[in-house]
Amino acid sequence: MDAGRRDAAARGRPRRGAIVVAPSRQTTMTPSAEVPAAKPGEPLGFTRVLVVDDEAPLRHMLELLLRREQYQVVHADSGEAAIELLGREDVDVVLTDVRMPGMGGLELVRWLHAERPGTTAIVMSAFGTIELALEAMHAGAYDYIAKPFKQDEVVLTLRKAEERERLRRENRALREQLRDAAATSDWLGDMLIRSAGMHAVARTVRKVAPFKTTVLVLGESGVGKELVSRAIHRLSPRADGPFVAVNCGAIPEALLESELFGHVRGAFTDATADKRGLFEEAKGGTLFLDEIGELPLALQVKLLRALQEEEIRRVGDTRAIKIDARVLAATSRELAQMVEDGSFRQDLYYRLHVMPIEVPPLRERREDIAPLLEHFIVAINRRLGTKVQSVADDALARLLAYHWPGNVRELENTVEHAAVMAEGGVLQLADLPERVLRTAKSGGGVTLAIPEGDLSVKRAQRALEREFILRALALTDGNRTHAAKLLELSHRALLYKIKEFGLA
Ligand SMILES: Nc1ncnc2c1ncn2[C@@H]1O[C@H](COP(=O)(O)OP(=O)(O)OP(=O)(O)O)[C@@H](O)[C@H]1O
Ligand SMILES: [Mg+2]
Repeated sequence: MDAGRRDAAARGRPRRGAIVVAPSRQTTMTPSAEVPAAKPGEPLGFTRVLVVDDEAPLRHMLELLLRREQYQVVHADSGEAAIELLGREDVDVVLTDVRMPGMGGLELVRWLHAERPGTTAIVMSAFGTIELALEAMHAGAYDYIAKPFKQDEVVLTLRKAEERERLRRENRALREQLRDAAATSDWLGDMLIRSAGMHAVARTVRKVAPFKTTVLVLGESGVGKELVSRAIHRLSPRADGPFVAVNCGAIPEALLESELFGHVRGAFTDATADKRGLFEEAKGGTLFLDEIGELPLALQVKLLRALQEEEIRRVGDTRAIKIDARVLAATSRELAQMVEDGSFRQDLYYRLHVMPIEVPPLRERREDIAPLLEHFIVAINRRLGTKVQSVADDALARLLAYHWPGNVRELENTVEHAAVMAEGGVLQLADLPERVLRTAKSGGGVTLAIPEGDLSVKRAQRALEREFILRALALTDGNRTHAAKLLELSHRALLYKIKEFGLA
């Protein structure tokens, strides 16, 4: 056995978690053919180095040096000998002199570039051969080292090349996973869809998109109402027109009317010129009225008129202007309740409610959590430069069980927090924000159907187990692997108990 061998175990790879980062929808990736993808479990560093130099003492010195740094070293005394050796065995990196009798380093680099594109070449150049070394770099060598060199320099250059190679392989592996994911996962616009609930939403979106009907998108905060609205726009014949979004809750009442409908010069003190409103801006496209529940009553009347007559009046103007905008509205408020309370007009409610789309909260479609998690990890790695590659089992269990009051937006923020905290490429339980961890402990109360006088601990235990298993299965939509993790039971034990309790 080669004592210098560096294998995967010795390098202390992080424990692989349950999820390996994969999906994100990317369609324009052209895989670079020359870099082999890193296989799971494969060490990403260099292991074998081929030293090529016609001077035996130098070969010997490099060999000692590199062995000390835990590399396996093979050597050759000429370009020809190197090629012959490479016909028999693989190396990760070739460290070659440029000027040698017979075939020199430059030709060797060219050969490597053509025949062994996955192998990194580094050239060594003595005084007077720097031109050759530069030419070799042009031909595909990664770097050059000028002779005479300090030992540190060689090691450092190798490490640098190693790091670059590791990144290239990682990139390649990610790209392959992305391509697989693109082929298997479902997307609607920028929206990932996996659960039955979201498939139903997508079906409605596809159906309503072509028609210029008003759509009311309902759902809790952060479920993806804006994404749904954008998807409708993008699938509509107006896709090339503008998508104009306005948050009715974020603009002061006094300004909102002029924002929506525009104004004419002199309509009020600050109106120094005519101004078009958002209805006009959205001409040929879509106007998205977010937080429609916040629209003041006075404007509700005007909006209803605009929708019915397809024309508006700018503030301070008497003339009507034709509008050509498809209106989409969204709210997280209970509009029906607001109608009863008198804070939302019934006629507008009916007008908007022609085509409602209800986006379910994340806790009611837990199958979406894991794919969304992966999607956000990829996106955040790219955006922030974090390097999360997997999620530990207990962290995943927690994320699957959490009730997500802030829905997908909260999940996205949680992943960002955790990705920043994570070390060693694995997202661990401790990396999750306090809020997500805390609620695990409090858990809801349990009511068991046990007769008053029955004090059997055994029966109580069974009833409790049964109840918890049911909950875990409900939380995971019947996914027994995930449920077993939540329950901290082995998969086998869970299957056994499911059968025993007749829960199958
Ligand atoms: N199915 C999904 N796939 C990918 N990203 C999603 C999905 N659903 C929501 N998101 C992301 O979650 C965040 C919240 O989505 P969005 O703004 O559409 O929610 P919302 O319902 O409009 O929220 P609010 O009520 O707070 O305005 C966004 O960053 C969005 O990109
Ligand atoms: Mg929104």
